[in-house]
Amino acid sequence: DKKIIIAIDGYSSTGKSTVAKQLAKALGYIYVDTGAMYRAITLYAMRKGYIDESQFEQEKLEKALPEIQIKFEINPKSGLAEVLLDGENVEREIRTLAVSNQVSKIAAVSAVRKKLVEQQNQMGKDKGIVMDGRDIGTVVFPNAELKLFMTATAKDRAERRFLELKERGEDVTYEDVLKNVVDRDHIDSTRKDSPLRQASDAVKIDNSNLTLEDQFKQILGLAKATI
Ligand code: C5P
Repeated sequence: DKKIIIAIDGYSSTGKSTVAKQLAKALGYIYVDTGAMYRAITLYAMRKGYIDESQFEQEKLEKALPEIQIKFEINPKSGLAEVLLDGENVEREIRTLAVSNQVSKIAAVSAVRKKLVEQQNQMGKDKGIVMDGRDIGTVVFPNAELKLFMTATAKDRAERRFLELKERGEDVTYEDVLKNVVDRDHIDSTRKDSPLRQASDAVKIDNSNLTLEDQFKQILGLAKATI
């Protein structure tokens, strides 16, 4: 079997990571969550006081960038990769709504994208990888053998994210989550550098009316046909 690169892009909370994890497991591939990398940089900037609701000291972040280390480590219990910020496991902290509310501003900075895209290219150099994000099929791996573009209605996506956050014990309202999903999609698709777009050769998957199982069957079929 030849090893391929599978690029999964799409709007926020469309279930990209769920599918990506299932696929990686079924194929014995590595899964890389690039959103976690942007979230970890965002957490760094928030802790330093470089960004909040009312201000963003972009130059300070840019100056610090070369020193910021983003890595992944496998959690032996789950077998899944978790993100490390300067050696500290921040997998839980990066999933809060507070981080979600700032991340798209950080992800619009070209210097941040350049650093992370370089690292993502390295991770894919041996192929056998499933990577999800916003610019994987368009910028990170324009030659990926299989590209998927996931969509669902904003309402379906916000409901999914709301339940996830509630389960983790976060005190959030559905309205706050819906606003975050809509705002992020807007910033992500209108930014200058690497805006969220469906690659011309990507397969569109609208999962508003698909069960997880049906969706996975369909996508695994596509992957097997490509390999
Ligand atoms: O995938 P996730 O929702 O965790 O991504 C968080 C944010 O990171 C996105 O809303 C987007 O602003 C940014 N992102 C990006 N490019 C990627 C992955 C994520 O700009 N490849």
